[in-house]
Amino acid sequence: MTELTQGKAWQNLEVHALKQRGRHLRELFGADARRFERFTFGLDDLFVDFSKQRVTGETMHLLHALAVETGVEAHRDSMFAGQHINTTENRAVLHVALRNRSGRPIYVDGTDVMPEVHAVLTRLDHFTREVRDGVWRGATGERVTDVVNIGIGGSDLGPAMVVDALWPYTRPELRTHFVSNVDDSHLARVLRDLEPERTLFVVASKTFTTEETMTNARSARDWLVTRLGEAAVGKHFVAVSTNAEAVGGFGIDHDRMFGFWDWVGGRYSLWSAIGLPIALGCGFDRFTQLLDGAHAMDEHFRTAPMDSNLPILMGLVGVWNRNFLGAVCQAILPYDQRLQRFAAYLQQADMESNGKSARRDGRRVDYTTGPIVWGEPGTNAQHSFFQLLHQGTELIPADFIVAARSGTALGDHHQRLLANFLAQTEALAFGKTPEEARHELEAQGFMGDELEALLPHKLFSGNQPTTSIIYDELTPYSLGRLIALYEHKIFVQGQIWGLNSFDQWGVELGKQLAKRILPALQGATVTDLPPATEGLLEVLKNRHI
Ligand code: F6P
Repeated sequence: MTELTQGKAWQNLEVHALKQRGRHLRELFGADARRFERFTFGLDDLFVDFSKQRVTGETMHLLHALAVETGVEAHRDSMFAGQHINTTENRAVLHVALRNRSGRPIYVDGTDVMPEVHAVLTRLDHFTREVRDGVWRGATGERVTDVVNIGIGGSDLGPAMVVDALWPYTRPELRTHFVSNVDDSHLARVLRDLEPERTLFVVASKTFTTEETMTNARSARDWLVTRLGEAAVGKHFVAVSTNAEAVGGFGIDHDRMFGFWDWVGGRYSLWSAIGLPIALGCGFDRFTQLLDGAHAMDEHFRTAPMDSNLPILMGLVGVWNRNFLGAVCQAILPYDQRLQRFAAYLQQADMESNGKSARRDGRRVDYTTGPIVWGEPGTNAQHSFFQLLHQGTELIPADFIVAARSGTALGDHHQRLLANFLAQTEALAFGKTPEEARHELEAQGFMGDELEALLPHKLFSGNQPTTSIIYDELTPYSLGRLIALYEHKIFVQGQIWGLNSFDQWGVELGKQLAKRILPALQGATVTDLPPATEGLLEVLKNRHI
């Protein structure tokens, strides 16, 4: 057994969970008239309601003990202090420095990184204004109307999610596109509607070696060169990377490259120059408001006591659901269409961070770790998978994310959206008892065998745990704060589980194998493939190559 599961806090939680598992949210609300007030927390206009989680005061007390025992606060302080907490890559983890608006220095290996951070921000500001004001022109003298970000994973999901969420702040005359998949359909579809004279490509890759990104970047370059000639590349390509040498090798000059640092993890990089498409699409001032919002959450995470610290509370409630109630997944349900890419973004942030089974000390875990994260915006999700949430057999904790006010204010749409949010969280928590269902059927005129046959299908067991996250309106500031809330929640859980949340060795095996297989598809003889792969390869070859 590991020291986590042997520890007093874990063992106490296991005993407590035995009692708690059978308790229904109806009972918990019935037993405590002040439950709503006791389990709701805030930070400015951000309001988080844990009252529909299956926790009691005792649960939270025991979870806090777990956070103390696993050194969550000390680990958090190590991150902010620039220590090399990414142990397998021997790196600091300092996305918080990218949005450090406090004026305080932040040191990595004895050097204050803030001057470099500010220098890149100044360059981003300058470049963004040039493009948006039409000072930056393409090779033929045209203004830029389309920005195409070529990147994948953290070099795509964050900026793509944010630009989509902040669409009311974008201009129709400067469109932003994102190409990530090596499947040529992705690039081809975007390029079909673009004019090279007005297109600016941002090649975004921390390493500048990622196969998908480099393949797409080369094809985009060919597309441009075929139409405008080699000399046009300088006016139509910029790069965001930590690898200046590879950027130069691709043919992008140093003055058109925006750098960042190895202490910025890919999935935590939207705050760095990787956010360039956000600044181009929404304006640099909006980008800094995003940073401000994230910084507000950083300060809260860094200083708030544990019993009102939102990321710590969220992390602990997630551990309770995962490890003590046995939930396999975590649904993300924004009742905010502008957050339609939020679940996809969080899938990488959470699952690439905590989808691990080796502890930092190298031993295998003897407990479950990161949940499967998935979701879609409400109300769409109600008409697809909510059936399973209401009447299926799985325990599915869900986060409902809601703006009190709409940014667009069209008729009574927003009231209807909010009514659905309130209805769903109520239904998931409290369900419908046999007595209630029977009463309802009787009122509808059913009786006898017909009523008895229908009754089982009309029951809702409820007791599905949800957290409601409410903010006034989705602005760059509130979005930055929301993203940082989840980043730190993931941090808290990773620390409790004893993981290094900042490496991603699990993505390597597939990359290695693809490298080995590719020559076989290109006509070379590759001898050491397993029969299972060989068989599929033959099927494919016989069809079209
Ligand atoms: O898939 C693994 C990964 O390394 C992610 O962590 C990262 O965000 C993505 O690939 C893209 O990497 P890069 O920015 O170096 O192209």
